[in-house]
Amino acid sequence: MSPPLNELLDCAVAAARAAGLYALANKDRRSEVEVSTRHDLKLRLDGECQAIATSVILEHYPGHAVLGEEDEVHDQAGPGTSVEWVIDPIDGTVNYYHGLPLWCCSIAARVNGDSIAGVVYEPEADHLYSATRDDAAKMNGAPIEVSVVDRMEHAVFLTGLNQKVEGDASKHQAVQAVSNQAQKTRVLGSAALDMCRVAAGHAEIYWEAGIYTWDMAAASLIVRQAGGKTCTLKKLDEPHRLSFLATNAHLHERAREAIRNATEG
Ligand code: IPD
Ligand code: CA
Repeated sequence: MSPPLNELLDCAVAAARAAGLYALANKDRRSEVEVSTRHDLKLRLDGECQAIATSVILEHYPGHAVLGEEDEVHDQAGPGTSVEWVIDPIDGTVNYYHGLPLWCCSIAARVNGDSIAGVVYEPEADHLYSATRDDAAKMNGAPIEVSVVDRMEHAVFLTGLNQKVEGDASKHQAVQAVSNQAQKTRVLGSAALDMCRVAAGHAEIYWEAGIYTWDMAAASLIVRQAGGKTCTLKKLDEPHRLSFLATNAHLHERAREAIRNATEG
């Protein structure tokens, strides 16, 4: 039996706020790099924020499993519970490192791989996006809804150009295909926040190949509970890595078709 959804949500809020506010308060340490690869960074604060979120969750629910971007050591549910928490302590690490204000902390509670409660906290704006499986999506407690835009030429398309597989031409072709139809394309640097923008009606389509479960676990629930639609288009080469689409529902099939034609055609 999993705990009541409102209690899981309260715990997710507490964990996301604790980790997010810690990152905000420690911005002067953002250049403490732990691992640097050609197109990505791991900061000391990524690990510290994950430890903070994990300890809040395990204080509330000592037997629950935790799957985090920074390490997966607690990924074992204790006896009598099937709840798994999914944490991205800083989504938008490269933005955070450079002092760009678009980053967030994302926390979801899942059962059998389905998110049932989720929070995305954007500390620089003090915006907290939340949803449970049984309730409308909210931003700072007020309900949010996807837009009613139903023409591609009026749509804002958000995507990420993660370059883990360099020279992946089909990904760029898909971005181009959707961009050609949309009004504008934007690359803002945080997958979880991009999806919250779709949930709040500020953009219509988010798609990216190469995000991870922790990027979308909370935000995908927020999109659906705001009236949008989400789908995994493909599971990729690495565990937890996927091609993921989130839309305002009205433009879902058109975006999906454009991506499919560009990546398989
Ligand atoms: C990344 C961000 C970025 C997206 C990448 C993600 P991180 O997460 O969400 O916008 O393009 O695919 O991995 O590394 O900042 O937590
Ligand atoms: Ca992330």
